[in-house]
Amino acid sequence: MFLLLLLYPGNANYNNESDINVEKRTTGNRLGDFLVSPRKQNWTRCGDNMCQCKGYQALCANHGHQLNYIPRFEQNITQLNFTGNYLPLIDNETFTNITKMKINYLHLQLNSIQNCKRTAFNALKFLRTLHLREHTIPRLELMDCLSGLTKDLQFLYLSNYHYHHPLDLDLDSSMTNSNIIKLHLQDVNMIHYNQSKLSTLKRLRNITIYRSLIKTVTFNYSFALETLDFGTNRLHQLPTFCVQGHAYFPNLKYLCLDHNGINSIPLEHIACMKSLAIFSICNNQIRTIESNAFSKLPNLHILSLQYNGHGMDVHDFAFNSSTLKELYLEDDDLYFGGYYKHVSLNAFKYCKRLELLRLSSNDFSTVTNPMFEEIFSNLVNLKSLSLAHCGLRFLPSFIPIHLKKLETLWLARNNIIAIPEGYFSSLNSLQNVQLNSNKITTVKPFSLQFFKQLKSIDLSSNPFSCSCELLWFINFLKTSPIRKRFVHFPKQYICVFPTVFKGKQLLQVRLSEHTCAVTKLVRVIIISTSTGILLLLLTISVVYRYRWYLRYIIYMARFQHVRYQRLLNGGGNYKYDVYLSSCDVDFDYVVYDELVPRLEEGMGLRLYIPQKDGQGNKIEQIISNMDASRKVMLFISDKYVEDGYCEFEASFAYNKYINEKRDLMIAVVLGELRAKNVTKTIHKILAVDNYIKWGWDEESLELFWLKITTAINNLDDLIP
Ligand SMILES: *[C@@H]1O[C@H](CO)[C@@H](O)[C@H](O)[C@H]1NC(C)=O
Ligand SMILES: *[C@@H]1O[C@H](CO)[C@@H](O)[C@H](O)[C@H]1NC(C)=O
Ligand SMILES: *[C@@H]1O[C@H](CO)[C@@H](O)[C@H](O)[C@H]1NC(C)=O
Ligand SMILES: *[C@@H]1O[C@H](CO)[C@@H](O)[C@H](O)[C@H]1NC(C)=O
Repeated sequence: MFLLLLLYPGNANYNNESDINVEKRTTGNRLGDFLVSPRKQNWTRCGDNMCQCKGYQALCANHGHQLNYIPRFEQNITQLNFTGNYLPLIDNETFTNITKMKINYLHLQLNSIQNCKRTAFNALKFLRTLHLREHTIPRLELMDCLSGLTKDLQFLYLSNYHYHHPLDLDLDSSMTNSNIIKLHLQDVNMIHYNQSKLSTLKRLRNITIYRSLIKTVTFNYSFALETLDFGTNRLHQLPTFCVQGHAYFPNLKYLCLDHNGINSIPLEHIACMKSLAIFSICNNQIRTIESNAFSKLPNLHILSLQYNGHGMDVHDFAFNSSTLKELYLEDDDLYFGGYYKHVSLNAFKYCKRLELLRLSSNDFSTVTNPMFEEIFSNLVNLKSLSLAHCGLRFLPSFIPIHLKKLETLWLARNNIIAIPEGYFSSLNSLQNVQLNSNKITTVKPFSLQFFKQLKSIDLSSNPFSCSCELLWFINFLKTSPIRKRFVHFPKQYICVFPTVFKGKQLLQVRLSEHTCAVTKLVRVIIISTSTGILLLLLTISVVYRYRWYLRYIIYMARFQHVRYQRLLNGGGNYKYDVYLSSCDVDFDYVVYDELVPRLEEGMGLRLYIPQKDGQGNKIEQIISNMDASRKVMLFISDKYVEDGYCEFEASFAYNKYINEKRDLMIAVVLGELRAKNVTKTIHKILAVDNYIKWGWDEESLELFWLKITTAINNLDDLIP
């Protein structure tokens, strides 16, 4: 019954939904890469049947010792990939068969080259790109080899040189005045990088030295350098790119230092780089981002700081930048709020141009809506936001309020339980939403506008409750072509509730509108009937529960005036010393045979005993006589609590205690009380003061009388 009360009448307005054509995105093949062939052309045999040709490309691969020379090809071949064959010696004759052709691209890989003559490449005048992935050439031979290259070579790619001694790459001596533009070294034992060994290469714009154990660097001025990538090396400090405020590389636009061991970003090491647009320093050990750390870079557009997961401290205005558009901070162990607060709520202030912010896999679990507001409300130009896997429990309200330009929202793998109705309705540019792997059980109808603008939405892996409330959604997914925009549909849209549908795909659920309509009617009837019954029960139980209190109120309303007069006249002079409240016949012998004689005769007290002295209207008696007594002794037991009049006496005494601020009660517990008998009033009484426990053993008796005497003799019984 209560469950039904909570259910909401379902809405089944999905029928009016018109079909919307799904836009098909054409993925254009980018043809700029080498060895991407013209379409619809097949590889054919060539080069003494040991190679394959297609258009201008030739590939001779994996013939080992069987192919120990470079064969002849058709004239149109300009790119040759020679991999896994056998060329132990390269000299001025090696390329004879291809010197007549305009070879501009040569890839030599794993050919067991051991000897390479100075003149080897002399004849390849058209060569622009050379890949050498050979680990068998000795260093000096390699340098010789390179010296024969045409000055017009543009791209040199060297890798797999695992020398025992560090490679002293001196291209100045082997490739003096070369017009090379791009240099890529990989898996080379470099240790120290020395820019001065490249000083005659005036056109060198692009340097990548990857996975090459670089620990230290010496930079030299280079006007041409635009791209520098030292990814996956052993740098422990950020090299300084500035000397006396001037940049070594005034035109450097791209700097990548990913996968090193750098632990800080000193402002003065980078502040001179006026052209830097992209700075990536992921997967390092950065601990702190200082205020204004990047604010001196007037062209910075993209900043990437992911995977520095050692609890980064991010200070106020850390990302202050008037140009920054994309900021990547995934998996940085950032704690926004809570005990481990590492990130200032002002960190993103003053980077108003930001369009993309990735913060997945950080901790937002203790961040409240006002804090979210503080952190993000100024990022009004955001088009893409990721807060996936951040411990979110709700959809933050700042998103629809401030991020009006949002196109992409990633919130997968959180603990979000509901999508508030109309949450997306103000986000008119939103196209891609990920809310998969949350705790969403039901989905309220979205607006038609939202579906029109939507390109993809992922609600997979949520614990759907397949009840009538979800009927519109189930039917919608069954009938509308828009379901194509639901990522991972239908396989990962599974019911978790109710048991009949558990484990079933939403698509397989047979929930008819008819059933839901009937259920709805039944529900309305049940709700109205049960509400009536419930109210009635409630009234009865309230009246019953407070019957004595109600009587008391009625009495008080009638006798208030009389009683007030009496109290005024009586002042501190009471007619009785003790009002005895006792209702348990099982203990009558204790009360009347043991205590009463001793109190009356032994201590000379004037007692009021309702059972003996009372006559006429009981309630009236109780009130007037309790008013006339200095103390009230309550003999509490199970039967006492169950007796209506006694319970009334108890609550009246307690009310006097509260209203008159007088310590008048002496509570004596005669035996263990059953839990159900510890009513609110009894509980309050026992909590007021040390109550006295009755017991027959000598110690209990002694204690009992001691406490009674103290309590009764205590005349100054006003409580503070
Ligand atoms: C040139 O190619 C021919 C056959 O295609 C081969 O026999 C010869 O050895 C090659 N010359 C060199 C110098 O490799
Ligand atoms: C050259 O061919 C080898 C073997 O087929 C291949 O692994 C390699 O990627 C090719 N190189 C280029 C630059 O296409
Ligand atoms: C190659 O060099 C040797 C001497 O080192 C010379 O005798 C020979 O003629 C050269 N061959 C070609 C094709 O230039
Ligand atoms: C943000 O950076 C600019 C440029 O360096 C600076 O002038 C400004 O004071 C910085 N703002 C704050 C709040 O520090």
